[in-house]
Amino acid sequence: MKISRRMLLALGLTLPTSGLKTKIFEQNASPFTVGSSMKVISTWPFGIPANARAWQLLQNGSTALDAVEQGVKVTEADPEVTSVGYNGSLDRDGRLTLDACIMDHRGMCGSVAGLEHIMHPISVARAIMERTPHVMLVGSGALDFAISEGFPKENIVTDDAIARWRNWQKSQKAPPLSPENHDTIGMLAIDSSGNLSGACTTSGLSYKLPGRVGDSPLIGPGLYVDNEIGAATATGVGEAIIRVVGSFLIVELMRQGMKPKDACKEAVKRIVNIHPKTHSQLQIGFIALRKDGEIGAFGMRNNEFSYSLTDAKNPNGTVIKPESWLS
Ligand code: GLY
Repeated sequence: MKISRRMLLALGLTLPTSGLKTKIFEQNASPFTVGSSMKVISTWPFGIPANARAWQLLQNGSTALDAVEQGVKVTEADPEVTSVGYNGSLDRDGRLTLDACIMDHRGMCGSVAGLEHIMHPISVARAIMERTPHVMLVGSGALDFAISEGFPKENIVTDDAIARWRNWQKSQKAPPLSPENHDTIGMLAIDSSGNLSGACTTSGLSYKLPGRVGDSPLIGPGLYVDNEIGAATATGVGEAIIRVVGSFLIVELMRQGMKPKDACKEAVKRIVNIHPKTHSQLQIGFIALRKDGEIGAFGMRNNEFSYSLTDAKNPNGTVIKPESWLS
């Protein structure tokens, strides 16, 4: 009889630690201790109030999917966060086009890109996942779908966003690569059943070319969830994250045995390899949540990136500054 890793674990035995090239996990069997405590992580300090909403839901027995959707909706509606949802950054032509995606523990996912006039693109992404045979809708098709599903068409472009855009127009220079110009909220959660889900939402790169899509609505680069292994999400310069399919890469590296932090670091390293001369200009941050609750993160630039953690030990949330490539 073939002895599986799961059988060994059930007997309280373990296999020796394997190198990356050795396949150590049975397919469709989580190698990690499941049923660990609930947890929410999200990108940036502005994840704290979003985590608080997600944590409240998890504590009341909600699924990780509900928690991440409702959590990032807090950020989408927050005018203080000028790179996500309401009061987000405009494109070159002065339009606010939003990108978002969501993925659950079954591997189901939904996504929108270039969506205008809708306060909560994450909920449209979820509706696409649950009420259509598709994964992704873009532009006017996404808006038509949202309206047909009862989402209100609203003016979510603020005077403040227009003033920022006009200011940029005066200089016509590319904006600095500060978090204000690139940040996304990516959120990962594990619920009381040990199931994982993730959500990601942004207005994308400030003053982008009309039609530009970054990593955030893309399942694979911006977000990936595999309920047997773990989940990852990204923030930063979407083009660089797409080139390495960052979040999927991190989950696959965790499958091969890498710790969440090391997997995030490897994804950053691959971006460095592709951009040997320009990586210092790339603001990048990855976060990862393994099935057993272990978390990790890694950034690119000089300790610039930070993320928010909320769990039983940190019920009010705490901001963590991970290591970065350039420090
Ligand atoms: N990560 C957000 C974007 O590049 O659009």
